[in-house]
Amino acid sequence: MSEYIIKGGRKIEGEVKISGSKNASLPIIAASILNQGTTTLYNVPDIHDTQMMFEILKKLGGKVTKKKNKIIIDTSKISEYEIPEELMRQMRSSVIFVGALLGKHSKATFSYPGGCDIGARPIDLHLKTFEKLGINISKNYGNITCNCDKIIGEKIDLDFPSVGATENAILVACLAKGETIITNAAKEPEIIDLQNILNKMGANIKGAGTDTIQINGVTKLKDVSYNIMPDRIEAGTFLCVAAMTGGNITIKEVEANNITPLIHKLEETGCKIEIQKNEIKMQAPKRLKAVDIKTMPYPGFPTDMQSIFATTLTIAKGTSIITENLFENRYKYVQELIRMGAKIDIEGKTAIIKGIKKLYGANVTATDLRGGAALVMAGIAAKGETKINNIEYILRGYEKFEQKLNNIGANIKLVKNGINIF
Ligand code: UD1
Repeated sequence: MSEYIIKGGRKIEGEVKISGSKNASLPIIAASILNQGTTTLYNVPDIHDTQMMFEILKKLGGKVTKKKNKIIIDTSKISEYEIPEELMRQMRSSVIFVGALLGKHSKATFSYPGGCDIGARPIDLHLKTFEKLGINISKNYGNITCNCDKIIGEKIDLDFPSVGATENAILVACLAKGETIITNAAKEPEIIDLQNILNKMGANIKGAGTDTIQINGVTKLKDVSYNIMPDRIEAGTFLCVAAMTGGNITIKEVEANNITPLIHKLEETGCKIEIQKNEIKMQAPKRLKAVDIKTMPYPGFPTDMQSIFATTLTIAKGTSIITENLFENRYKYVQELIRMGAKIDIEGKTAIIKGIKKLYGANVTATDLRGGAALVMAGIAAKGETKINNIEYILRGYEKFEQKLNNIGANIKLVKNGINIF
């Protein structure tokens, strides 16, 4: 078991370079299956979730080689169509392999996915999408088999703009016969990244980033070299920790257009923000002002920033109201923040935060990836020492988190089985 030990009362100041996007990397790693050759990726973050995706690829018969800053994936020998249950259970995003396997073999066997416990997270929209494309689905004691002779393009109207279901629909349709049109599609920037790499491989996809995506099936894809987009949630996390500690920060290699609602909310709290090309500079005031946020699908305020922004507001002046519209269980971290002195009441999907002057260090537990990152931020801002256990959740999604934070003024030790790592 690993834990973070954080000496608090620090101001975050300096420069940080943003890593490649986790949520763009995961479907892109799965997409490599559709190419019967080599996919070379740059800027893949070295985190637990990408490592798990590579493990699944290897179990399916793929070869993954790391060379300095690039990952070379060879999928020419993939013949398996069954995703191992123990890997499926470890991460929700494993479900994205189903679309790629169906696109390649017209067949896939898998079990229900696991992942962060932030709500029910069903996969009904994914399965409905497959059915729409003429794929038969049979369920047997938690195992699901999807198959059909030949996938033919169709019109798919999603009941909700699910990110994963949109990505799976694109993956299945890429090599299908004819035209597929997805309406009420998710508009997240990571879907544009998926479209971009697939088109570079020879696919014919238009419309990602809007609510209608049109895919004209092609017969074959080709080798590709691709640079993954920057991680917008990591960028948001660093901006928020600087804001919370009254600091100033320069975020490098970021796409500011992808975090517009976050930038507007930080400005509302009193932060001064300057955007230049791929860089954001931010100066926080001594004390932030309270603001309200409501999470929504993109381009709304991202649910993945909810816990991080709410934590920032625990020491703002005034009362903030947070409304979580996407995941029903995304307030688990609140109990931990209360141990640190935060004043937060939860009523259904709303959190009412009464800003206090200071948080105090405590022993707390990370309950999910972003909620865990939020506790790290609270620990940096708090008076005294904070110990966070269960940090495996945080390591799933942040590359060199403690090193990056220590470089800009934090004091965090990573302790693994009682041994100091950093
Ligand atoms: C992706 C992101 C995750 C982010 C989420 C919402 C990745 C790897 N993960 O997750 O970080 O928090 O988008 O922006 O990109 N739903 C159903 N049935 C389904 C699928 C989804 O009811 O079949 C519901 C979910 O329970 C949730 C909502 O739809 O309430 C949004 O989920 P979705 O957009 O699918 O999220 P993910 O793709 O899982």
